Amino acid sequence: MMRTHYCGSLNESFIDQTVTLCGWVHRRRDHGGVVFLDMRDRDGLVQVVVDPDTPEAFALADKSRSEYVLKITGRVRQRYAGTENPNMPSGMIEVLGKEIEVLNTSETPPFPLNDEFVNVGEEIRLKYRFLDMRRPEMLQRMRFRSQVTSKIRTYLDRHGFLDVETPVLTRATPEGARDYLVPSRTQQGSFFALPQSPQLFKQLLMVSGFDRYYQIAKCFRDEDLRADRQPEFTQIDIETSFMSDEDIMNIAEGMAVELFDDLLNVKFDKFPRMTYAEAMRRFASDKPDLRIPLELIDVADVLKDAAFKVFAGPANDPKGRVVALRVPNGNDISRGKIDEYTKFVGIYGAKGLAYIKVNDISKINNGVDKESGLQSPIIKNISDEMLQTIIDRTGAQNGDLIFFGADKAKVVNDAMGALRVKLGHDLNLLTCEWAPLWVVDFPMFEETDNGQWTSVHHPFTMPHGTVEDLKNNPAQATSVAYDMVLNGTEIGGGSLRIYNPDMQKAVFEALGIGEEEAQEKFSFLLDALKFGAPPHGGLAFGLDRLVMLMTGATSIRDVIAFPKTKTAECLMTQAPAPVEGKQLRELGIRLREKVGE
Ligand code: AMO
Ligand code: AMP
Repeated sequence: MMRTHYCGSLNESFIDQTVTLCGWVHRRRDHGGVVFLDMRDRDGLVQVVVDPDTPEAFALADKSRSEYVLKITGRVRQRYAGTENPNMPSGMIEVLGKEIEVLNTSETPPFPLNDEFVNVGEEIRLKYRFLDMRRPEMLQRMRFRSQVTSKIRTYLDRHGFLDVETPVLTRATPEGARDYLVPSRTQQGSFFALPQSPQLFKQLLMVSGFDRYYQIAKCFRDEDLRADRQPEFTQIDIETSFMSDEDIMNIAEGMAVELFDDLLNVKFDKFPRMTYAEAMRRFASDKPDLRIPLELIDVADVLKDAAFKVFAGPANDPKGRVVALRVPNGNDISRGKIDEYTKFVGIYGAKGLAYIKVNDISKINNGVDKESGLQSPIIKNISDEMLQTIIDRTGAQNGDLIFFGADKAKVVNDAMGALRVKLGHDLNLLTCEWAPLWVVDFPMFEETDNGQWTSVHHPFTMPHGTVEDLKNNPAQATSVAYDMVLNGTEIGGGSLRIYNPDMQKAVFEALGIGEEEAQEKFSFLLDALKFGAPPHGGLAFGLDRLVMLMTGATSIRDVIAFPKTKTAECLMTQAPAPVEGKQLRELGIRLREKVGE
């Protein structure tokens, strides 16, 4: 080994020892004939001083620049009084450099990696990701991620889980996203799909009798990307046999509790449970951020006969929803801000954002001009009685503001759910740092825009009730599915699985997957269910999201070593990239001419 110690590991206990360090020049300063080098390695920083008493070392230190790679031998000594740096773990000491070897030079990096780093834009950071990750902040997050996976393995090992790898070259695994396809050379015209998750394989491992499986698995989904979505991401994938949904949630919750305790010293109580229906009703989201104390109140029944058609319309539509969102002390939200929020809900398809500023409740219903008590563009067309009911039901007080959303339920939920979260942050309403919960009893199916049914979780999820119940009323069916939600992010989800072939067929039917298609795509699963499949179920955590939340990063890109951009490209390797004609010919592929060429 070239080094004796890591830079960041040095402290006062090493005083008077001679050490050899290897690392990068983080910062170089020239101070009246003495050169200071802040040397950086994986463990942190240490200050090295080189003076002209050692002329050879001094000359090399003098010509070193940021990001040069140096090997330095020197003696650890106490810093002079007044020159200590309490912000640095090694800040009480420095190394008096005696011998320096320049192992490599460096061009000036495209952006500074030291304290002079300013947010240079993600594109350049991603293009030079190998440099970006030299920054202590990035390195720290990657180190934390490694601790998380290590703890998870220990936890699952302790609970008797076997780590089994499943194929990456496989068939489509329906999780609701588009597949990444890989053309086959040996079977021209046929394609592998990269797994959207190991779902079917882990179920088959249960049929094989493995009982408890886990894998830290790469998953691939060609979907629209956002801050918490990547085309390839990592799941902590878990499956168990002979366990109830309760048992599975307990194991998963135990893992989360232990991770937060061990790594962040955060103690969780038992996670609350909330049904999907309640979450949608109160928070208009299936992943409610419970740090935010705002709640939605349904008022459609009150407004059915209102003269204000914007409300009365959705109030009378079975697929409509009308909600009020009370903002305590929201009265001083300005017109300009309200316009901003109106634009914000517009992103989700809302056609407006009605509001009432509550100045003086006593003036409603009092024969007095109600508009001096309530300030709002909409109250002219709403009766005093309706207004009073809304005030009572929302619990509004003088000084509050009430927002309203009225539209198809989907639009109202998307818009008002998002507004609730935005207001929570804008108005600093967060009541705690961490709010985990389980959301349970999801619907089995949801209707797509073109009127078809799709699985809310996936087609292998067990419904509550019998095959008959499912056939008679698929729209009302709920599933034995559960999501773990933390601070408004879905960090994991799973379900009990169907292990009865008749139920599996009934679900395929409800999804419009006919007998023939089911055989063609899933015959291996249907076969397996015939050969003694045990009751089983599991879940998967999104590792990237978990680490993002735990490190306080704002995007999963910041906790993935080499992530892709929003357009699913790697700016560093420039993948995806065109390939040579020869390679395509071998695969039996000819590209269509691009439109416009
Ligand atoms: P699901 O599709 O809910 O379930 O995925 C499980 C968890 O994976 C994370 N996740 C993602 N993270 C980053 N980028 C993405 N594109 C992305 N998509 C999902 C989320 C999510 O909670 N096979 C089932 C699990 C099961 O039933 O056992 C599945 O994949 O945190
Ligand atoms: P209008 O009658 O369209 O001028 O709208 C009157 C008020 O109702 C304005 O404050 C709009 O922002 C609001 N508004 C319009 N449509 C909706 C809607 N679908 N949901 C909530 N508020 C709305």
